Amino acid sequence: MKEVTWKSPSNIALVKYWGKYPVQIPANPSISFTLSAAATTTTLKYAPGNGQIEVFLEGVSTPSFLPKIKTFLERTAEQFPFAGTLDMEIHTSNSFPHSSGIASSASGMSALALCLMSVKQALGLPVENFFEEASEAARLGSGSGSRSVYGPLAAWGTHRDITGSSDRWAVAYDDVADVFKSFQDTILLVDKGEKVVSSTVGHGLMEGHTYAEARFAQAHTNQSELLTCMRNGDIEGFGAIVESEALTLHAMMMSSRPYFILMKPNTLKVIEAIWAFREKTGNPLYFTLDAGANVHLLYPKSHKDVILQFIDSDLRTFCKDGSYLCDEVGQGPKQL
Ligand code: PMV
Repeated sequence: MKEVTWKSPSNIALVKYWGKYPVQIPANPSISFTLSAAATTTTLKYAPGNGQIEVFLEGVSTPSFLPKIKTFLERTAEQFPFAGTLDMEIHTSNSFPHSSGIASSASGMSALALCLMSVKQALGLPVENFFEEASEAARLGSGSGSRSVYGPLAAWGTHRDITGSSDRWAVAYDDVADVFKSFQDTILLVDKGEKVVSSTVGHGLMEGHTYAEARFAQAHTNQSELLTCMRNGDIEGFGAIVESEALTLHAMMMSSRPYFILMKPNTLKVIEAIWAFREKTGNPLYFTLDAGANVHLLYPKSHKDVILQFIDSDLRTFCKDGSYLCDEVGQGPKQL
């Protein structure tokens, strides 16, 4: 069998994608930091055949992944028409523990999309824009996965201030002050359980949501303001928008039918401690959340020592088994 390997990172949204239309078209634009340490490495082995697929997670055959991969291959049949004429073995592993509550769909689907793009190239099929096509394919597997194929930031969804932005694929974004290109993201593992609300159910909550239209409009405005702050190196302005986006995402979930509270008591304790620390010391420490209880701490590299000390002395106690992951803004996927 021939083989190709890509390592593709996770990402953390600053302006949140929440709500979509068929097929995987975002209801509003979003922008994210590409991460560095949290990544999926996927090796795709292939040989002429008739569409047989086997999946291995950390070396162990994992047939439970097959339905998702088959759906992905059906959706991307136009881009990867050759998939059914090959037998494939997909070997995938994550740099973060499976039980950490860190979603692997963005890194996993982008790694697979990149592998399939490399196969497409190897088969001599026309490829015009490798990463744009990889991003579009990744989007069809995991919306936020479209943003994992570029660093240091990626924007997905048509937005008036981002040239070339599209609902179909993400674009790389780096028109930001240097401080943001090395921003730190320490992920506090407040709860390591499985996702309470699946992505599909979560986005579905925005259908007919009382606040949907206002929220989608707000995301456009927040993104404009965030881009201005990031271009100007305005960390305080950045932090205010990013924290508001995180709380708005959770507010949408709390005000939908059915409704969900995905934060845990310790999530709130961490947030209160961050606000008190900022007030007392003036250190630029901000948070964001994804659709779960874990807290992403965002701060400039220049403040790493003092903030890691604060995490160990005051925040670690709120983490399951005292665990957290240190990450930072990364440069995007790598072919290995
Ligand atoms: O890509 P999905 O369908 O798993 O949705 C991701 C949704 C959020 O993580 C909550 C926000 C985002 O933009 O990544």
